[in-house]
Amino acid sequence: MPLIDLSKSSGLPLKLDAEYKLLFGRGVENAKADARTRERMEAVLKNPAVEAPPEFYYMYRNIHLKKDAAKIDKSNLRYDITVLPPFNVGGEYNKTFGHYHPKVAGTDTWFPEVYEVLHGHAHYLLQNGEEFLVFDARRGDKCLMLPGFAHVTVNPSEREPLVMANWVFPGFESDYKPIEKMGGAQYFETHHGFVPNKKYSDIPHVKLIAPKIFPELGLSRRPLYTEGTANTKKFSWLFEPQNFSELFAKYREI
Ligand SMILES: [Fe+2]
Repeated sequence: MPLIDLSKSSGLPLKLDAEYKLLFGRGVENAKADARTRERMEAVLKNPAVEAPPEFYYMYRNIHLKKDAAKIDKSNLRYDITVLPPFNVGGEYNKTFGHYHPKVAGTDTWFPEVYEVLHGHAHYLLQNGEEFLVFDARRGDKCLMLPGFAHVTVNPSEREPLVMANWVFPGFESDYKPIEKMGGAQYFETHHGFVPNKKYSDIPHVKLIAPKIFPELGLSRRPLYTEGTANTKKFSWLFEPQNFSELFAKYREI
């Protein structure tokens, strides 16, 4: 596989090498990949007994240009990149473990997150017990991980790696236990489509939703990194979502 140039889509001088690792260009602070292992992923696979690669995906946290370090430090935000190589495990597409975010202390609102596809194709699966939403996202698409929804990222491709970015508030711990306890999300995505996870008794229908441009929340045509570093206030909804409930509701309507 030739190098994949991510500079246009990410706004950062980055490439992906043949081993699905990031190469950092001039001015970018080097970061180490944190790998999600097969041993950890077995808890959420449809067919945990089937042979699988030792590493499922790579997480790079706090990627930034050195010149932006002080600004990002002050912003209450963190920019991460995740790489999911293309493979399947017994017909189930490669995916992330999945987790919930906690509530903002003293409020009734959960921390949200924003995702962007830098290369490849993504299905973002969101569940909150009442609804099961699936974003179908391509390069340049931005998707809001709505407050209160657990989220799983799927790479539904057999050939192309998925490279994606996110901005998130770095001051909370994600909760992996509810998804782990149920052996995965409410659906597994396989060659045969979405297969219900039988451990759940009551499963809503899959509702496909389209990524959208939503300037009120900083979701423009520009890369997330460019948009966020140009004006970090545009993403203040990531750490004070309790003040943006109306915009989250409006986001669902369009
Ligand atoms: Fe998250």
